[in-house]
Amino acid sequence: MSALTVVDHPVLAHRVAQLRDRRTGGDTFRQLIAEVSGLLAYEALRDLGTAAVSVDTPVADDAPARCVAEVVLLVPILRAGLGMVQAIQEIVPLTEVAHVGLRRDEATLRSEVYLNRLPRDLGGRRVIVCDPMLATGGSLVQVCDLVTQRGAAEVIALCILASEPGLAAFALAHPGVPVYCAAVDPELNEAGFIVPGLGDAGDRLFGPPD
Ligand code: PRP
Repeated sequence: MSALTVVDHPVLAHRVAQLRDRRTGGDTFRQLIAEVSGLLAYEALRDLGTAAVSVDTPVADDAPARCVAEVVLLVPILRAGLGMVQAIQEIVPLTEVAHVGLRRDEATLRSEVYLNRLPRDLGGRRVIVCDPMLATGGSLVQVCDLVTQRGAAEVIALCILASEPGLAAFALAHPGVPVYCAAVDPELNEAGFIVPGLGDAGDRLFGPPD
């Protein structure tokens, strides 16, 4: 089983409740996705690599301090993962971003890659795959396949909501990839939506695609 961390905090729970609410409009929804994403990244990157530095403060020279020294690669799964990126970059210094686009066929629920801008060589890199929704888990499995094929040293998945069946499927495919999320829901409906969920994150962020 992949390590699963459901970040349990009242300020996250409050935002998840607002995200679930069908009355929450697009502007607020985008803001909430961003805020939850930043908090999840903060939690997932407690071991971010740092280097010792010294800083001249207004009252002392050469005060010891630490600065982030690791460049993390964010991999948002388009479209919905895009809603997570900027907020994570505002919290985590030195990130880079590589976009991967997947479209889930509504009939088969299988995802197809339509954009892959991953660097050819991910050797030694830590990669954070970002997608607000882990439903069947198929999209996340495919992107983690691509990232590990290119040699990533460590992969972490950040989701906002995950389904229990999706987590189980993901753990079978990528037992070494930890998942951080804000809530886990019990099931999927016939259309592959997480229940009770929050609806279609991509559409609520950006509008219907067609
Ligand atoms: C949704 C969602 C995830 C994916 C999850 O994307 O944003 O990427 O489905 O489903 P899965 O776990 O069953 O693979 P969608 O295909 O609707 O695309 P969009 O983000 O462009 O709206």
